[in-house]
Amino acid sequence: MKGIVFTEFLEMIEARHDGDFADDLIVTAGLPHDGAYTAVGTYPHTEMVALVVRYSAMSEIPVPEVLKGFGRHLFERFAVLYPVFFDQVRCPLDFLGTIEDVIHVEVRKLYPDAELPRFDAVRPEPGVLELTYRSERHLADLAEGLIEGCVKHFGVPHEIERGDAESDGSVRFRIRKIA
Ligand code: HEM
Repeated sequence: MKGIVFTEFLEMIEARHDGDFADDLIVTAGLPHDGAYTAVGTYPHTEMVALVVRYSAMSEIPVPEVLKGFGRHLFERFAVLYPVFFDQVRCPLDFLGTIEDVIHVEVRKLYPDAELPRFDAVRPEPGVLELTYRSERHLADLAEGLIEGCVKHFGVPHEIERGDAESDGSVRFRIRKIA
């Protein structure tokens, strides 16, 4: 997993909590190299899982909520860090429809070792996008938070429905514009 995911997660924790909280988290999560991550480095995604699980225990926020909250935060950070993806896009459905074929393609050019999920996007009717998430890392909660962050970012009300995980682990989201 790319270091940017770790550095953004730890910055979110530092902004939310006072004093030594982030240091205590890193120490007690039992991470190698003292949690010293660089944005362009690559680290085992199990270290991210360890950080999230430990943060959940320390904050008493359930793991799915930690991941969703992080997804919302990360989306806003992506908007700051990668403004080029937002040029000309005015609606969350148009943005979310480009993750697989545009955004993550560019991410892979920047970081050839990125471990990215797969998104299949379908527009079954006007104002609706169905997005199916597939990843060996099973981070559908993170994806849900990113989708929520995306809807909030564009300021156009949409409802997000999440289906149950399929037997292959995929999860379908239905994002619908509220008329
Ligand atoms: C400007 C927008 C975006 C950028 C620059 C971006 C970039 C990235 C990067 C750098 C990673 C880390 C890859 C790795 O750890 O090796 C990642 C992973 C991921 N991205 Fe995106 N992304 C964007 C938008 C989105 C959106 C809107 C979603 C959700 C619908 C999404 C879903 C995910 C998920 C769930 C992962 C975690 C890896 C996994 O599930 O296998 N991304 N993305």
